[in-house]
Amino acid sequence: MAMSAELVDFPLRRPGNPGPPPEYTSYREREGLVWSTMPTGARVWLVTRYEEVRAVLTNPKISSNPAHPGFPSTGRTGGVPSQDQIPGWFVALDPPEHDRFRKALIPEFTVRRVRQLRPAIQEVVDGVIDALVEKGKETGNTADLVADFVTPVPSLVISALLGVPKIDRGFFESRIRSLVSLNASHDERDEATRLIMRYLNRLIRIRQKRPGDDLISVMLKSEALSPMEISGASMLLLIAGQETTASNMALGLMTLLMNRQWIGDERVVEEVLRYYSVADFVSLRVATDDVEIGGQLVKKGEGVVPLVGGANHDESAFECPHKFDPERSVRHHVAFGYGVHQCLGQNLVRAELDIAYRTLFERLPEVAMAVGVEELPFRCDGVIFGLNSLPVRW
Ligand code: HEM
Repeated sequence: MAMSAELVDFPLRRPGNPGPPPEYTSYREREGLVWSTMPTGARVWLVTRYEEVRAVLTNPKISSNPAHPGFPSTGRTGGVPSQDQIPGWFVALDPPEHDRFRKALIPEFTVRRVRQLRPAIQEVVDGVIDALVEKGKETGNTADLVADFVTPVPSLVISALLGVPKIDRGFFESRIRSLVSLNASHDERDEATRLIMRYLNRLIRIRQKRPGDDLISVMLKSEALSPMEISGASMLLLIAGQETTASNMALGLMTLLMNRQWIGDERVVEEVLRYYSVADFVSLRVATDDVEIGGQLVKKGEGVVPLVGGANHDESAFECPHKFDPERSVRHHVAFGYGVHQCLGQNLVRAELDIAYRTLFERLPEVAMAVGVEELPFRCDGVIFGLNSLPVRW
């Protein structure tokens, strides 16, 4: 099948509409895949149909390892400094090397395990809301839910799981904040990475002597990973779970503030994940051999970007996909990716989002948006789609 003649620029924006870029609808109707140029000048194939996104993400001839020639880069670091080559950064490894990390970590992220973690998540969310309410006393009961609520929660939860003592979690939270800030310079990001890695290495040494029931102790006990790999894997958990979770939390709260009839409906969690698909283009891949995807020949060394926002709005997989409808109650979306790299933290995220949505409206039933939706600054220039602020009053 011939390739699409037009060469499109990538990544695409989401003008005035927080759903995935509207162009994806016409891309899905084209034959084959869409040939595109990344900001770095590299050429890649864009994949927007549901079945083909899943086919890419399960094809053993398509790799996640940036060491392969032709691996695409968006040229945006957006919170991910140049540490994709550090030991333990297992999202950049292919099987069989990748399997070792999943085996060591999966028992800690099952539905059952996350159920046991709910009280710890609740404690974090309660603490963040306490601080927000306290601050509100000085600001006339106003706050920015992005800065004051959704940003601290994910890193505080992961640091609690890693066994970071409560007294040090503020340090972690502020370093992660610099890491994912779009305004931070390369040097500031590298410095934040260095400080976090140094802290993690120290924590690992402590846990080697005095194990606990935290994630670092569990990884040490598995004996499958070296201390350096444990430090890199912990860093990956902190980064992979930060902006993704915070963005879903912010967009979900925005949606609930605009549609109060859904407050307390846990089905909102899944629909927010599908509808906004904030991690639309994080699954960058390269073909390690000639391979056919959706009738398109992808040659060895060519980059491939499966767009989960495209897949999650594909009419062949979801009825009226552009409608936000929590009642559809479907879980086959690919907002967490698909295949061997499917998000390790997905059960944790579901619990975090559910607890965050529920608790905010229980504690502040009067909370309302302080600006019109048309004034909300959507975050379009990072790797993860989101909101730069969500001003509220109560
Ligand atoms: C709503 C929030 C989240 C979204 C939308 C999300 C999305 C994703 C996606 C799309 C991938 C696949 C990447 C690929 O194919 O290359 C992924 C992988 C991953 N995520 Fe998440 N993620 C979220 C939260 C989290 C959290 C809270 C954690 C931490 C526990 C986490 C840890 C990971 C890890 C470790 C991987 C790599 C898995 C592997 O390579 O085996 N994520 N995530």
